[in-house]
Amino acid sequence: MGNLLQDKVIVISGVGPGLGRTLAVRCARHGASVVLAARTASRLDEVAKDVADAGGRAVTVAADITDHASAENLVTESLAAFGRVDALVNNAFSIPAMKPLARTDFDHIRAGIELTVLGALRLTQLFTPALAESKGAVVNINSMVIRHSQERYGSYKIAKSALLAASQSLATELGPQGIRVNSVAPGYIWGETLKQYFAHQADKYGTTVDRIYEHTAAGTDLKRLPDTDEVADAAIFLASPMANAITGQCLDVNCGEFHH
Ligand SMILES: NC(=O)c1ccc[n+]([C@@H]2O[C@H](COP(=O)([O-])OP(=O)(O)OC[C@H]3O[C@@H](n4cnc5c(N)ncnc54)[C@H](OP(=O)(O)O)[C@@H]3O)[C@@H](O)[C@H]2O)c1
Repeated sequence: MGNLLQDKVIVISGVGPGLGRTLAVRCARHGASVVLAARTASRLDEVAKDVADAGGRAVTVAADITDHASAENLVTESLAAFGRVDALVNNAFSIPAMKPLARTDFDHIRAGIELTVLGALRLTQLFTPALAESKGAVVNINSMVIRHSQERYGSYKIAKSALLAASQSLATELGPQGIRVNSVAPGYIWGETLKQYFAHQADKYGTTVDRIYEHTAAGTDLKRLPDTDEVADAAIFLASPMANAITGQCLDVNCGEFHH
């Protein structure tokens, strides 16, 4: 693998078993040191081990990004460990309500906004001095939900659309300090979660995972679904000096399922 992120320090907020883990390992393979943040310390330790196995350096910080003091501590610990921060990747995710908006409890909608929008904004605010010093980057992980209006995705779409809006405004506001702010919008990600979901669907409808995959992939230009590595690489590109003139943009990674 290349060295796109040689000597860079990347903070990944919301590190779980999916994209967060893959991002951490691939950032390390590209030469970065990584700070891993989420609420579950044991998961962070597992991912830190994967990073070490890949030859990288990781520190873990148990953090709840909806809590201001906890987020402040993440900044303190990141700077204490590495002395600088070159990129912040906002990846945190929790399963949205998946009900029609007409029947969605406002508390669910509020929780989605609190995590996805205000969590990312809080970290961006708190890391701004460090990112201004490094002329760094923010990458917000969005979703293809901003490109469609399918039923039951309403509360997720509200949160991710507001995250896109915040990313664009922040690009304008932070640009004069040399900070870039971009988004990655993945579609389906052919990883563990989707494999389990397709297996569940196959059981329910008496068909096979392969058939469901083919049916889903038929809606993309490339007739396949992106894997987790391919989504992570788009975020790494935007965090890297290869994207030094790119800000305020959203890169869709969906094998051509939606054009915009
Ligand atoms: N998976 C997909 O198919 C897909 C498709 C399109 C877009 N995306 C986007 O891709 C991103 C990653 O999704 P993923 O499913 O692969 O995630 P992941 O890396 O497997 O996990 C994300 C982690 O965020 C952490 N988190 C949740 N609330 C938090 C909080 N308050 N403070 C700190 N951390 C918190 C959770 O860990 P703790 O519980 O330990 O805090 C969770 O494990 C998300 O932004 C998602 O919207 C995913």
